[in-house]
Amino acid sequence: MAAVSQHDLSQFTTIDESSLERLEVVGRGTFGTVYKARMHDKTVAVKSYDAESEFKAFTVEVRQLSRVNHPNIIKLYGACASEQPCLVMEYAENGSLHRMLHGKPKIKYSASHAMSWARQCAEGTAYLHAMTPKPLIHRDLKPPNLLLVNSGRTLKICDFGTVVDKSTLMTNNKGSAAWMAPEVFEGYSYTEKCDVFSWAIILWEVIARRQPYKEFGIAYSIMWRVHMGDRPPAIKNCPKPIHKLMTTCWDSTPSNRPSMEEVVTIMNALCSFFP
Ligand code: ADE
Repeated sequence: MAAVSQHDLSQFTTIDESSLERLEVVGRGTFGTVYKARMHDKTVAVKSYDAESEFKAFTVEVRQLSRVNHPNIIKLYGACASEQPCLVMEYAENGSLHRMLHGKPKIKYSASHAMSWARQCAEGTAYLHAMTPKPLIHRDLKPPNLLLVNSGRTLKICDFGTVVDKSTLMTNNKGSAAWMAPEVFEGYSYTEKCDVFSWAIILWEVIARRQPYKEFGIAYSIMWRVHMGDRPPAIKNCPKPIHKLMTTCWDSTPSNRPSMEEVVTIMNALCSFFP
């Protein structure tokens, strides 16, 4: 395993494991365990891949993250090609959006914060979709994969283990049921519009401040209900344009959903009403 990783990582900044001091576990990604760590005088996040079976996700994550550079995407500092491969990235000191929304004790936030998080998630995703020569599709957008910095004001997308470029045959069932577009779990081929669907569920979640389909229980029943056309319930007092944006973005037919670029334009306009 080490020999393969040495080879694959040669084009990236390699970091010596001995320069890292791991402090504590701060989370788990779809693959791997994330630690808070010190690297020289800097606090960083280290994501370790524990199982041989996660090695592919590790190389995907390093390859894709090293190609991107955007204020709403977590920054990669480099990777270790040691016995236990790991990647070293920017540490997000304010935790995940999931913790912000649903953690205890409940943290108060305003509608303008909610709209700003959704807008920033759209900006980062639109950047991925605009990558050349091929769009990158995240495939697992959800609040646990959205990190906060700058006292919770700035949002950064993380967890790139499931990212694919559009040339890959995309019929793998990746992602997490509540945010997953129906065409993904139905096994059809899918496009970047699956991220637009996930984004709509995130928009609902930041505004409703509830976990989507909590009452449906297991992943299988969520998928069944979404397949049958169920979506999160309408939010009381939700401004009409926001409701309309949400519902068009989670349309069952991918081509009826706007592009992420269009979502950004609409969100920029809507955010000006929430100073
Ligand atoms: N959890 C997952 N990735 C993280 C990061 N980069 N910083 C803080 N917590 C995380």
